[in-house]
Amino acid sequence: EVQASEAEMKLLYTTSKLGTGERMHSSGSEPEEDAVNAAEEAEGGVGRAGAEQALAGARAPEPQAAPSRAPCKPAVFIPVHRTPEIQEARLKLPILAEEQVVMEAINDNPIVIICGETGSGKTTQVPQFLYEAGYASSGGIIGITEPRRVAAVSMSQRVAKEMNLSHRVVSYQIRYEGNVTDETRIKFMTDGVLLKEIQKDFLLSKYKVIIIDEAHERSMYTDILIGLLSRIVPLRHKKGLPLKLIIMSATLRVEDFTANTRLFSVQPPVIQVDARQFPVTVHFNKKTPLDDYSGECFRKVCKIHRMLPAGGILVFLTGQAEVHSLCRRLRKAFPYQKNSTAGNAVETTLPKIDLNNYSVVPPDEGDEDRDFDSDDDAAGSDLDLDLGDGDSGEDEKSDSSLPLYVLPLYSLLAPEKQAKVFRPPPPGTRLCVVATNVAETSLTIPGIKYVVDSGREKRRCYDRITGVSSFRVSWVCQASAEQRAGRAGRTEPGHCYRLYSSAVFMDFEKFSAPEITKRPVEDLILQMKALNIEKVINFPFPTPPPTEALAAAEELLIALGALKELKQQLAAKLSCPISPLGRVMATFPVAPRYAKMLALSRQHQCLPYTITIVSAMTVRELFEELDRPAGSEEEAAQLKGRRARFLQMQKVWAGQGPMQKLGDLMVMLGAVGACEYSGCTREFCEQNGLRHKAMLEIRRLRGQLTTAVNSVCRDAGLYVDPKMEPPTEAQVTYLRQIVLAGLGDHLARRVQAEELLDDKWRNAYKTALLEDPVFIHPSSVLFKELPEFVVYQEIVETTKLYMKGVSAVEPEWIPALLPPYCHFGKPLENPPPSYCPGTGRVRCHRPSVFYRVGWQLPAVEVD
Ligand code: CDP
Ligand code: MG
Repeated sequence: EVQASEAEMKLLYTTSKLGTGERMHSSGSEPEEDAVNAAEEAEGGVGRAGAEQALAGARAPEPQAAPSRAPCKPAVFIPVHRTPEIQEARLKLPILAEEQVVMEAINDNPIVIICGETGSGKTTQVPQFLYEAGYASSGGIIGITEPRRVAAVSMSQRVAKEMNLSHRVVSYQIRYEGNVTDETRIKFMTDGVLLKEIQKDFLLSKYKVIIIDEAHERSMYTDILIGLLSRIVPLRHKKGLPLKLIIMSATLRVEDFTANTRLFSVQPPVIQVDARQFPVTVHFNKKTPLDDYSGECFRKVCKIHRMLPAGGILVFLTGQAEVHSLCRRLRKAFPYQKNSTAGNAVETTLPKIDLNNYSVVPPDEGDEDRDFDSDDDAAGSDLDLDLGDGDSGEDEKSDSSLPLYVLPLYSLLAPEKQAKVFRPPPPGTRLCVVATNVAETSLTIPGIKYVVDSGREKRRCYDRITGVSSFRVSWVCQASAEQRAGRAGRTEPGHCYRLYSSAVFMDFEKFSAPEITKRPVEDLILQMKALNIEKVINFPFPTPPPTEALAAAEELLIALGALKELKQQLAAKLSCPISPLGRVMATFPVAPRYAKMLALSRQHQCLPYTITIVSAMTVRELFEELDRPAGSEEEAAQLKGRRARFLQMQKVWAGQGPMQKLGDLMVMLGAVGACEYSGCTREFCEQNGLRHKAMLEIRRLRGQLTTAVNSVCRDAGLYVDPKMEPPTEAQVTYLRQIVLAGLGDHLARRVQAEELLDDKWRNAYKTALLEDPVFIHPSSVLFKELPEFVVYQEIVETTKLYMKGVSAVEPEWIPALLPPYCHFGKPLENPPPSYCPGTGRVRCHRPSVFYRVGWQLPAVEVD
């Protein structure tokens, strides 16, 4: 393992000058380079001994003597034995025609940008070019990062197959799951995985090439990786171990990378791969359905299937539940009987059907959508839920006898199910893939001629003040809509049906803003600080996040104790270094608040419980939605019964006496425990109002977190056992304190009777972050208890602001566990009315202790 020294790193990221010099190709010695050299020498002794040794053999004579061209131009050609069919298919890919250009650019430049339409072969072919050119010979690895897990897994499988190599050689790694071996030469991974690897080995010494794929998506980790690699590449060059960086994008919008001199001092060349794209006729809806876009998708697919010539259909919806719901409806309407024994799509004995037995009506291109105006509104209520088939109607049955081969596609779908979309559909059927936006650019599905675009996507939205996140369905941007339409023209001219009007389209944003500018960045800042990047504000972000977001993140991390507060410096300078606690927190793959809980939980053997609580809080919607409107009276009665049973179970899980005070988190613990003791079966979940999928996901996360904890505290000796003994009363009390220490900024105090300003504050709570009254959510076990102080997991806004995931805390814990939020001293004469974010720390006063402004706590003795 080769590690950059701490001093070296600090120099790199604290000098804002960096990035304007010509580090990349420099042969002279510049001031910064001297400084880096000096720092290296100074550090040389202890910490660096290992690294120096590792580098000794491979080090180029002197940086000055380093050739201006990257010296790793490969002279080798590693043969790959592909099957003739694969070879034939490859030759059709546009990028094959550009192999020479691509490889020359890579040989001659340390950093290259490749732009090409989705489906032109970037992801599957560029790693193969590099492999054949010897970039993975003599032990080096070609690494490819993907923002989506589904792409990392499926692309590694595809490339292994194309190259006739086993997954031991072409492998993937996502979070804690993967099949990487010592033989791995091509490694697909999520961007988060590579970021973690940089923490362990800053120079990424195992890699000869890093490919950042899907850079146009501008996911937060991709952006950070590009910023980091802009510094790692010249460092590696200087050490005589050149690293190639290839940035791949599905669009030509790459100015943030090319025209950013802070990022790359020498503009990297951009290679454009011209894809053969067939014309796609776009049809807008006249009307824009506001709610039932899923139903509208259903109707549109039915019409295409009944009326239009052969060709696959691709539907874009927003989430997993919607995808399944539409799949079920479509399968019902156009049933496809699988051969009962075969689990696969390639059966040959199929129901006999007449391929010509349907009417062909070409779409009228002059009049938008004329043949497709929605006219059958009889589709019934479309319960967009993952369960129950409440949504059918006899009238949905098609008169067409051609079966529709319906496949779902979304990120969390099991890999073997994902792979189905790439195989040809069974003969005599029409392929219909119902996907989320993973099919927009990450995966190219063959044979698609029709695209049905709901125009929506699910986005994670963050409240600017509270940082509370929620998934919201919103309109896509114009660029996404164009990408979606483009999926219809890969193999022949196609059609795209947009379920919204052209006027609505004109109102879409042109491009979506990079993720980093839209979300709280505390997890990212913690990761960066763990890399010793202290002045995050000087980091060469392709697009920097807003300064307020950086400041809020820094403030939260200081309060959590993850950063050392520098008294002299203003927090606005954003340069606090990481604390030892912060280092531990940074190793956990969860948000900093939860990481803090994990870090504290070795005490009193609380770890298995905290791991479970954190996993449960990370997986949304543990419980089935039993309040939903029922389709029939029978269903309503059934729901009522299940709801009664669930309420009963909720009480059981919440425990008794002191246990109960852990509130909703105790319910989570109890539910997971009970479910695991039952073997986590579907029946158990259905009977008790739990979502089976969520329970399986929690089990997976618990395994991953246990592994992570074991790797941090090697002597923790936790083993992955899904079952756990119920916690003792004392442990529950410790757990409540641990939760308070992590969720400290999510503290709320009940408004007392004498403080009631008006009726809207009855039973309300006051939080530090919001002016408005907030309430305990009716689904909470503490809804009727109304404890004086609570912490909450999140606030959701429906008819009111509701706290979810609520636990009761004892007031006297607050000054002890959350000193950063408390000031001790005399009460203020005129305390400001409430806490205002951005004004800094708040006063708490002895002998009474205040939590933030005006929150008088019972007098307690505090030092
Ligand atoms: O990365 P880019 O969008 O440029 O293209 P790609 O993902 O490399 O896909 C190249 C071709 O391989 C497409 O035509 C895909 O349909 C095909 N492919 C496939 O048949 N099976 C897979 N598992 C992955 C890709
Ligand atoms: Mg790709």
